[in-house]
Amino acid sequence: MAGKELIDRFQETFGRGAGPLAVRAPGRVNLIGEHTDYNDGFVLPIAIEKEILALVRPRDDRQVIIHSTAQDRPVRFSLDEILAPAGPAWGNYCRGVAAGLKERGEKLVGAEILLDSTIPGGAGLSSSAALEVATALALQAAAGTLGLVPAGELARLCQMAEHVFAGAPVGIMDQSICIMGQAGHALLLDCRSGQVRHVPFNDPHLVLLVCDTQVRHAINDGGYASRRSQCESAAAKMGVPSLREATLEMAARCTGLTTTERQRVRHVVGEIARTLDASAALQAGDYAAFGHLMVASHHSLRDDYHVSCEELDTVVESALAQKGVYGARMTGGGFGGSAIVLVAVDQAAAVTAAIAADFSRRFGWPCPIFSTTAAAGAGLVEAGDSGHRLPSSF
Ligand code: GLA
Repeated sequence: MAGKELIDRFQETFGRGAGPLAVRAPGRVNLIGEHTDYNDGFVLPIAIEKEILALVRPRDDRQVIIHSTAQDRPVRFSLDEILAPAGPAWGNYCRGVAAGLKERGEKLVGAEILLDSTIPGGAGLSSSAALEVATALALQAAAGTLGLVPAGELARLCQMAEHVFAGAPVGIMDQSICIMGQAGHALLLDCRSGQVRHVPFNDPHLVLLVCDTQVRHAINDGGYASRRSQCESAAAKMGVPSLREATLEMAARCTGLTTTERQRVRHVVGEIARTLDASAALQAGDYAAFGHLMVASHHSLRDDYHVSCEELDTVVESALAQKGVYGARMTGGGFGGSAIVLVAVDQAAAVTAAIAADFSRRFGWPCPIFSTTAAAGAGLVEAGDSGHRLPSSF
């Protein structure tokens, strides 16, 4: 929704009064380092231009009322009640975040919030993490406490909201990149130590395409959780705290591993190494090497981790058959969602057209494709900021 329209909608919903503040929280794609975060490994995501914008105004009571332009039913709760999961389902991410802030003893005030998202849901682009972070920032903006919770702690609080209120045992990647992303950079995150490095990702000769297969999955449907527990059980059998400490030699020696566990270990150990190599390749501007690592990551997710699907494989294969493509892979949890393609800028239009045509010919529905640069992480939208959807004097 355009900015002026959104402000009008806010006033229709909540009445005229003091102008709202605005915060934004972006979606993400992961360049490489998939299913490594909950194994204490490395990830290399970027924040994308698609985002959730939240307009927020404090109330002088303890009620929180959250409307979304995409939902009929609003979310309502009192900051004084004991927060527990309740309908509508999307509101659980918001309730979980409010509960986490309360538990930390953060100052909170009632708030009226209107959310508007350009991140397609279920596309593997982290719309849930963006919803959590947008809610956290909106509540903090209302209370005048923005920026007071350190980034890493806020990411963990949002992750916990998803574990406890939405039943999805996700890792720390999505919330971290949403909060810590920097424009023009990918984020190399060590999920064990929490250390970060911002790696430049802003070469004007390259374009990153995001291809949404429109195959939708829920992250709490079991496939994700089973991968996580297979990794944990493999680590326990090898006597290491996590697969970050595992090696392929250890796996070869460990007779108790099942075939499936062996495959999971092979993926995770390989992917952690690929992520570090890919970060170094990016830093050196070696896009050929970077692209090869993307493809190796996809194959490993397909063959050893079993989280790809025919639609994602098709996008990757048609991309790799085109001129100017450095690499392609599924991104995010998998089982559907999106694939990314790194392509030379002068070939981007042709590659987009070829992938879209191959896909709809094969499956009979379209594969929407957009390009994105590495966007900034979540934060306050100041009046007059360029590059966002609000008019300069909101
Ligand atoms: C989902 C989770 C992340 C991460 C990825 C796979 O996006 O939310 O924590 O585990 O899957 O890399």
